Amino acid sequence: MYESLIKHIRHLFNTPTEFIPLHEPRFIGNEKKYVMDAIDSTFVSSVGKYVDQFEEMMCEITGAKYAIAIVNGTNALHLSMVLAGVEPGDEVITQSLTFIATANAISYCQATSHFVDVDKETMGLSPTLLDAHLQEISEMRNGECFNKNTNKRIKACVPMHTFGLPLYIDGLVKVCDKYNITLIEDAAESLGSYYKGQHTGTFGKLGTFSFNGNKTVTSGGGGAIITDDEELAKRAKYLSTQAKIPHKWEYKHDAIGYNYRMPNLNAALACAQLEQLDFYIKNKRELNDNYAQFLVGNGDVKLVQEVKNAKSNYWLNAVILKDKSERDNFLEELNSKGVMTRPIWALMNHLEMFKDCPKSDLSNSEWLEDRVVNIPSSVRI
Ligand SMILES: Cc1ncc(COP(=O)(O)O)c(C=O)c1O
Repeated sequence: MYESLIKHIRHLFNTPTEFIPLHEPRFIGNEKKYVMDAIDSTFVSSVGKYVDQFEEMMCEITGAKYAIAIVNGTNALHLSMVLAGVEPGDEVITQSLTFIATANAISYCQATSHFVDVDKETMGLSPTLLDAHLQEISEMRNGECFNKNTNKRIKACVPMHTFGLPLYIDGLVKVCDKYNITLIEDAAESLGSYYKGQHTGTFGKLGTFSFNGNKTVTSGGGGAIITDDEELAKRAKYLSTQAKIPHKWEYKHDAIGYNYRMPNLNAALACAQLEQLDFYIKNKRELNDNYAQFLVGNGDVKLVQEVKNAKSNYWLNAVILKDKSERDNFLEELNSKGVMTRPIWALMNHLEMFKDCPKSDLSNSEWLEDRVVNIPSSVRI
């Protein structure tokens, strides 16, 4: 049934018979040169010129005032919530339609995920549905937002730009301001994505990124926190280096810190990759355009595209199938013919660990859970 699509994907990736993965990294720039340079310098751990350079490049790319290199995206999320003042017993609003790292990081704070529905077209947290939900279940106490049903403070909100598609983030800024909830953007998937000309991750108090091997840009493993707040940036650096009080030789610490700094070796790889970001994004947007042209008028396989005012990096292309059984047929046929496809994540509230978490009506998330599939999206060279 999907023979012509399979043929088209094979043609696009110039791979007539072999397996086509969903996303694989490309090392066609200065990667080996910089990594070898880091090794030769002996600075392979958390101090070194590439860590500094990586942070400068992240500021340049995103327009944020400060960037802090972190060991991975999950820990960048955890540390951001610590910085935002999330405490044990708090609730943190997030999507149930997200990769598990978002909800795991909330749990690392001994806080509870509170799942709210997404907009169908962005697959990201819905400002209107969040506002309506908070009107129903929350009340303000001494300027802070509390869940009336659980009596817990709702301290932060962590939306996620799914597959690089910017969500209606300016709307979320307004809702979070209204309820005095700190906004932290999980921009793990959206490096190079913009909403109204502003880089994702810069709308909230803090934004986080991942440089895992499957992302648009990789450092092997890696993450970053961005912020415009100087104090938070300083604290992020201090807490991510075991809360060591800066001193030439003394080892003194005045808080429980974390070993969360990105090693120079990984930063070297990241710098070489970031140099190619513009090329990657152009290439990925061309691929999305090509898929769109191929699937135009195809009512059974609908390509997901950016909404008005959004510019997506199209990290992973996604299609929407008619229903769950058609989704399963699609997955079966393409995977069995060597073209990798993968369903969107199971909703967090469907997982044992998070099944009792507070939540809003999740109809859109449930609809998408049954239908969305990712299709091959690597940079083509
Ligand atoms: C939405 C989202 N959040 C967080 C992460 C965690 O990043 P990492 O794998 O670098 O820990 C990822 C990716 O892995 C992700 O896709």
